[in-house]
Amino acid sequence: MIQLKQVSKRYGDIVALDHIDLTVQDGECVVLIGPSGCGKSTLLRSINRLIDTDQGDILVNGQNISTYKAEDLRRQLGYCIQGVGLFPHLSVFDNIAIVPQLLKWDKVKIKDRINTLMDLTGLPLSYLSKKPHELSGGEAQRVGVCRALAADPSILLMDEPFGAVDPMTREQIQLAFRKIQRELKKTVLFVTHDMEEAILLADRIAIMYKGKILSLETPGGLINGKHDPFVNEFIGADYPLRLLKRYTLADLKVINVDSKSQLNQVSYLNEFSTAKEILSEILKSGSQEIMIQKTDKTKVIVSYEALIELLQKVLNNEIV
Ligand SMILES: Nc1ncnc2c1ncn2[C@@H]1O[C@H](COP(=O)(O)OP(=O)(O)OP(=O)(O)O)[C@@H](O)[C@H]1O
Ligand SMILES: [Mg+2]
Repeated sequence: MIQLKQVSKRYGDIVALDHIDLTVQDGECVVLIGPSGCGKSTLLRSINRLIDTDQGDILVNGQNISTYKAEDLRRQLGYCIQGVGLFPHLSVFDNIAIVPQLLKWDKVKIKDRINTLMDLTGLPLSYLSKKPHELSGGEAQRVGVCRALAADPSILLMDEPFGAVDPMTREQIQLAFRKIQRELKKTVLFVTHDMEEAILLADRIAIMYKGKILSLETPGGLINGKHDPFVNEFIGADYPLRLLKRYTLADLKVINVDSKSQLNQVSYLNEFSTAKEILSEILKSGSQEIMIQKTDKTKVIVSYEALIELLQKVLNNEIV
């Protein structure tokens, strides 16, 4: 668990953090989003003591960070730095191995762990001997993600970790990250500029502005328009449409049909397709419903009404 109590930080006249209260529960993923300069990185950096705050208390797993030994804090926190921050003179392997080596893991365990992480982030093992300057921006970011996960910390601080990754790889990594976060119950504070990334990954979204958290809500909760005017403007009028990316066919009411039926079938959609993709296909089809074949070859019909119903359930907090 991470707790910030009335945390403030100034740089001269700039108030980077203004009396921040925030708790990230065990196993929860809170996504921080807000305009450039609103204090997101400052907030993350204050948690792992890269910067000292002026006021307030920060607790990691119930203990004030000022009382931790540096090594004990490092063991619990994985940190993915904005702009990657790999050590240029070290190979990819040695960059990822930094914390496990500091913690004196044995060589075989480090190698196994690194192989698993390279696979998870879609990087070839042949890259382990490369130096950071031989990587593309997106590849370097993925190495940064491997490094943050390396020692299997219970808490992850991720500062725009997928910003330079191309959209297709990015979506794969987002889904892989969501899977590990949920399976391994990592406690995550994740910074992004991308609202759809926030919608996909967050249990709660914190919207920051000028050093303050203006709103802290579930992605579904944000749909209720009872916010500060800045928050309404920030999430945008198309927020309900973007929110559909969080849900899949499994969240929609469907009608099972005969597997021989050919009616309006959209061949590339399946049970992993998002509600947003399904809506796009319904709009494109010009009809009220489409048929989708799941990977087990069974077929279902999903209608426009099912999407309306889904959003109503989200509005009524029946689904998160
Ligand atoms: N070391 C520093 N010295 C002086 N001012 C700083 C320092 N670090 C950050 N700031 C200022 O504090 C404010 C918050 O910066 P921060 O890096 O937290 O923003 P951010 O929300 O992460 O922005 P971005 O989305 O661009 O990464 C900014 O106005 C920034 O200029
Ligand atoms: Mg930043």
